[in-house]
Amino acid sequence: MFKQTVPMQRALAIAPSILAADFARFGEEVRAIDAGGADWVHVDVMDGHFVPNISFGPQVVRAIRPHTKKVLDVHLMIAPADPYLAEFAAAGADIITVHAEAGPHLHRSLQAIRALGKKAGVSLNPGTPESAIDYVLDLVDLVLVMSVNPGFGGQAFIPSALDKVARIKAMIGDRPIDLEVDGGVTADNAGALAKAGANALVAGSAVFKGGESAYAGNIAAIRSAAERARGELV
Ligand code: DX5
Ligand code: ZN
Repeated sequence: MFKQTVPMQRALAIAPSILAADFARFGEEVRAIDAGGADWVHVDVMDGHFVPNISFGPQVVRAIRPHTKKVLDVHLMIAPADPYLAEFAAAGADIITVHAEAGPHLHRSLQAIRALGKKAGVSLNPGTPESAIDYVLDLVDLVLVMSVNPGFGGQAFIPSALDKVARIKAMIGDRPIDLEVDGGVTADNAGALAKAGANALVAGSAVFKGGESAYAGNIAAIRSAAERARGELV
């Protein structure tokens, strides 16, 4: 009788962060990473309050939506998040991720995202223990492990994130939840991250370096490192 020995892996998703794109050319940049093989487009929203930087809001999500059919993965680094969830949903987000540290009512925020018909994500800062999501795991479609302190692109990967990914992977068990890592991800650490259990890899500088003609190669380098670690490439 057939017996499955390899556990099912969730699909690998490479998610370039448009925080590293040319802000004056968002439409072209999004089309370029789409054509270059991105699976998701990661959109970093910062409010200058939850994190020490300001990026952009729902109008930018609305503006880039017509430029790609790929998943728009919206990472909200804002507090409070709840007053803006409906606006991000209407703007065309597919996944909306809130931070566990962004307010006292994480459970309510996740319920609100699902009630809007969107996939709900929860993110943890490097200093936040994984126990913060113990009681919301059945309410989420994605867990986002920050491997830098959020606020800026181009920072160095914090190695303790690897262990955290492995612990959260075990907590998730067989639930249909994507496990994403964000911050300092490169082709050099993508393999270790995939091995630890991450299936969604966000990369800003590592994708956008070298200009438009380099995007496809940069995405492919991250993908093949992860695929090799997942046993999908020999
Ligand atoms: C950091 C953002 C990241 C950032 C990643 O606050 O959440 O998505 O754009 O950029 P790199 O890949 O350059 O670390
Ligand atoms: Zn992000």
